[in-house]
Amino acid sequence: MSRVSVFRREHFNAAHRLFNPAWDEQTNDQVFGKCNNPNYHGHNYELEVKLTGEIDPATGYVMDLKKLSDIIEENVLEKFDHKNLNLDVSYFVNLNPTAEHIAVVIYHILRKEIDVKLDLKIRLYETERNFVEYPA
Ligand code: NI
Repeated sequence: MSRVSVFRREHFNAAHRLFNPAWDEQTNDQVFGKCNNPNYHGHNYELEVKLTGEIDPATGYVMDLKKLSDIIEENVLEKFDHKNLNLDVSYFVNLNPTAEHIAVVIYHILRKEIDVKLDLKIRLYETERNFVEYPA
């Protein structure tokens, strides 16, 4: 049996502000810099969803990537795209919307939708040069 990884890349735009409400303004400014701008700022996020598993002998697929695309669209992009993550997306009401946290949230959203036989990994690019992966 052949284990293969398949990938789907998606894109969303979103605004956020990084801050820790337990800290004063000066500390937030020192730690988060421009990302602490009280009026928020935007990113063009690139999302890569990686699935690893056996090829289904009937279809020749690990998973139909059109179906994966629909799952991401419905469960992630509709919730995140063109949103203010802090204000509009319930997951981040009490969670600092760093790339790390966004990746973990997306992982848990998608994990519920994807066959347990498939391993799932999320890679999220906040900029071309800054990206995170979960699970590590
Ligand atoms: Ni930022």
